[in-house]
Amino acid sequence: MVLGKLVLGLACAACVPGAGGARARPVWLDTGRSADERAAALLAALTPAEKRVLLVGTFAVNLPQAGFHKPAGAVGSAGYVPGIPRLGIPALQETDSTLGIANPFDVRPGDTAVALPAGLATAASFDPEIARANGALLGREAAARGLNVLLGPGLNLARDPRGGRNFEYLGEDPLLAGTLAGEIERGIQGEHVIAVAKHFAANDQESGRTIANMVIPEGALRESDLLAFEIALERGHPGAVMCAYNKLNGPYACGSAKLLTDTLKQDWGFPGFVLSDWGAVHAATDMAAGLDQESAFELDTEKFFGTKLDAALRAGSVAPARVDDAVRRILHSMIEAGLLEPRHKPAVDVKADIAVARAAEAEGIVLLSNPASVLPLPTDLHCLLVAGGESDAGVPAGGGSSEVTPVGGAAREIKLGGEGLAGIFRQQIYDPPAPLAAVRARLPRTKIFWVDGRYPAQAALLAAFCPAAIVFVQQWAGEDSDIADITLPSGQDGLIAAVARANRHTVVVLETGGPVAMPWLPQAGAVVEAWYGGSGGADAIAAVLFGELNPSGRLPMSFPASLADVPNLNVNGQYGVPGQPFDAPYREGADVGYRWYASAHKTPLFPFGFGLSYSAFAYSGLTVSGGATLTIGFDVRNTGARPGMDVPQAYLTSRGGRQGLRLLGWSKQLLQPGESRHVTLTADPRLLADYEPALHKWHVAAGAMTVAVGANAGDLKLSGSAAVDDRMLAP
Ligand code: BGC
Repeated sequence: MVLGKLVLGLACAACVPGAGGARARPVWLDTGRSADERAAALLAALTPAEKRVLLVGTFAVNLPQAGFHKPAGAVGSAGYVPGIPRLGIPALQETDSTLGIANPFDVRPGDTAVALPAGLATAASFDPEIARANGALLGREAAARGLNVLLGPGLNLARDPRGGRNFEYLGEDPLLAGTLAGEIERGIQGEHVIAVAKHFAANDQESGRTIANMVIPEGALRESDLLAFEIALERGHPGAVMCAYNKLNGPYACGSAKLLTDTLKQDWGFPGFVLSDWGAVHAATDMAAGLDQESAFELDTEKFFGTKLDAALRAGSVAPARVDDAVRRILHSMIEAGLLEPRHKPAVDVKADIAVARAAEAEGIVLLSNPASVLPLPTDLHCLLVAGGESDAGVPAGGGSSEVTPVGGAAREIKLGGEGLAGIFRQQIYDPPAPLAAVRARLPRTKIFWVDGRYPAQAALLAAFCPAAIVFVQQWAGEDSDIADITLPSGQDGLIAAVARANRHTVVVLETGGPVAMPWLPQAGAVVEAWYGGSGGADAIAAVLFGELNPSGRLPMSFPASLADVPNLNVNGQYGVPGQPFDAPYREGADVGYRWYASAHKTPLFPFGFGLSYSAFAYSGLTVSGGATLTIGFDVRNTGARPGMDVPQAYLTSRGGRQGLRLLGWSKQLLQPGESRHVTLTADPRLLADYEPALHKWHVAAGAMTVAVGANAGDLKLSGSAAVDDRMLAP
């Protein structure tokens, strides 16, 4: 409101007269006009100095020991870009992000937020509506705090099971990750908060993330990481994209004209702005390459979009028109998100938001193994052993900028140590409530033994005494480092093996940030992947274990049988010389995850798309028709005794005689016992194409395409084929 008065008090060159003699209103505040017109008018009203204000962000935390102080006017979060009050341009208050509203270093004292489950759980839901609800939650919870830029979603592809931030992202497939990220963006922006798709591009590993050069042929890049972003931008129209720390085929991502200008802005027509990751700018000329805003300049080696940019403008290495374009883009996204209109902060209904988080976890839990139907567990057990995983406290969360101080406060914090800023982030926190409490609530008459699991023999003794046991095991992952290997850490395999030996009805609950090896799999009664569960995690896990919920999650990334089967035996640079730049060749190219296992003829432990149910499903009646693209039809039927949700998937298995798997689509269906439904899927033609760098186009080669439909990438039951037309598609 105050802003509105300031603006209307101006002598205004770019004003439209108000109706009935009312005072003139600046064009940029006229919501009846297009964002283009409004942004152009606002740009014209800015002085050169004001334009420059919008190009540089500040780190907005309090960390005096490292020299950081929250700037005046900042709400307190990851970043802050001052506004221009005289024109009604609000400050950008930027927050992390992907799994809830972070409160870094307690900059907003005591502020807690609802924690969403890991991105992998949301991806495992294969459900665009879950993703959109998550985005809306994030947007609402940000807006309620006066934060208007949300630094997410993250959609880097899970190329390696050890990726330290896989847990935050949306899996290994570009169609799945792009679709869900697009829905998250829609949810965020629907709350008048700018969504920021990150990290553009190919920041698929954490090892040496600021010095690594990701090497991947252009065609393969377009068909994998870039396709995920392209789909997400088409679907969600986020206001901004965050360029990544790493180099990509030579230049730093934030200084790559090919990536930011040629691909993002020209080929894809992205109208929004590019902001840098925190500390990812290396030169003022990054602006010429297409970077629009330097974030948290204190984290760069120097402030590049200040006097350095002046020098670059004088030297002619950055054109003045580029600066105007950057400002116009920032304004355009602010206008599109509705940031120029005065709004009331939404109220946060914590209970309702916990229900959203619970729904995401409930649909993201993956039942991996249940050969003798040990699950669901009965509720009339006379005794039960619950062991391990800090299950008396809460569910684990991943570390780094996505970490949320959960509602109720962290149930437990375990410092993992380490030096510098990264060391502060290296902590294992647990979101309440405790899975143990959620189990107890369902078994009021059962004698429940709980042990921390440090002594496998003790756990085995108690397990032998009871009709069933639940073992919670965990693997922590966090930003800035990759996971050492896929073994469950700290001897947890020994705990599972001992308990499973003592009791056939042992249920293993994995709380991991990605795939782990399971040497005890043949002995386990049942295995459930619960990821990092978030604020609704404990209840969702217990609901699955006791059959209130029929599990329907599907793996959004393959679980390899061994690290010998993944594209790189070692993560490139994981143990490199600190500070020494290196190349990280993405050997698998566009064949990420299941595509790699298929082409390398390796059988993963659990394939992409895998997930069991307490019910069973069958597919029949496949039809495939061709032409401009493929249209696939089939019936799915619930052949089990319970209502349940299935996620049948369609894959391209060969094109023009070339073998290779590509997910073409899926459909999530809730079916009653005996119920059957017809599903129709239409393939995005880019999934049938090769990207041809020389032609600067996608090319669908005419010929027969073979499609298979089944339960997952490793279980394709129906097969059919059709011919498609030769087509060239714009890049
Ligand atoms: C992360 C980003 C995050 C930013 C601000 C960086 O280290 O890579 O994902 O948004 O910090 O906290």
